[in-house]
Amino acid sequence: MPRKFFVGGNWKCNGTRESISKIIEEFNKGPSVADADVEVVIGCPFVYADYTREKLRQDWALSVQNCWIGKGGAFTGEISAEMIKDAGIPWVILGHSERRHLPELKESDETVAIKVAYALANGLKVMACIGELLEEREGGQTQAVNERQLKAIAAKLKEEDWKNVVIAYEPVWAIGTGKVATPEQAQEVHEQVRAWVASNVSPSVAAEVRILYGGSVTAKNSAELAGKPDVDGFLVGGASLKPEFLDIVAAYK
Ligand code: G3H
Repeated sequence: MPRKFFVGGNWKCNGTRESISKIIEEFNKGPSVADADVEVVIGCPFVYADYTREKLRQDWALSVQNCWIGKGGAFTGEISAEMIKDAGIPWVILGHSERRHLPELKESDETVAIKVAYALANGLKVMACIGELLEEREGGQTQAVNERQLKAIAAKLKEEDWKNVVIAYEPVWAIGTGKVATPEQAQEVHEQVRAWVASNVSPSVAAEVRILYGGSVTAKNSAELAGKPDVDGFLVGGASLKPEFLDIVAAYK
């Protein structure tokens, strides 16, 4: 079965009711994807989830960008996977590099892995992010870093869990920098990631799991990236706050 193209938008910590309303008005003008070979998911801030869902076209799904590591309780300020599920939100982004690397957050591979497993066990679908820092790429560590991050996640999942996971490969040096990976660089890593999944999870999961590229994706560069055989879609930051996101969605064609 061919892998359905997937385009996620990650609004990060951006937006007001006014700006959300405006951008959704633009998004809602785009052609229906209900019967198209593309799945579209918008990752909004928690506080705007209801507002976004109310306004957003029904053929695009909703995600949030984080969740608590386990069951809810006395964890002030946190939002649990159960609450996200209960609120009718199907997706969560986990392991984003900003959560892994910002000194205020510093989520470890283990924390990310526990979150992924807990979210899946509680009925959410997960965009699980991995990716290397610039110095890691320059030090020839790209593959090792991606495999280390994946290994931590895979260790906590059962084979059937993977049907609810998409992997987002986001080289940190490409995020928000305007310095997009070349289609060849993206393909090289995606191929390595798929090979790792084939050897360490199963060949069938490797054949089916979607591997997204994230990092300075724009309307301009998306078609060429989408042309690579192991690039199954995108996780888009900055451009998901702009009307050009519709052109990125159309890159599957
Ligand atoms: O989750 C999205 C990525 O961090 C990419 O962000 O498209 O602004 O580079 P960007």
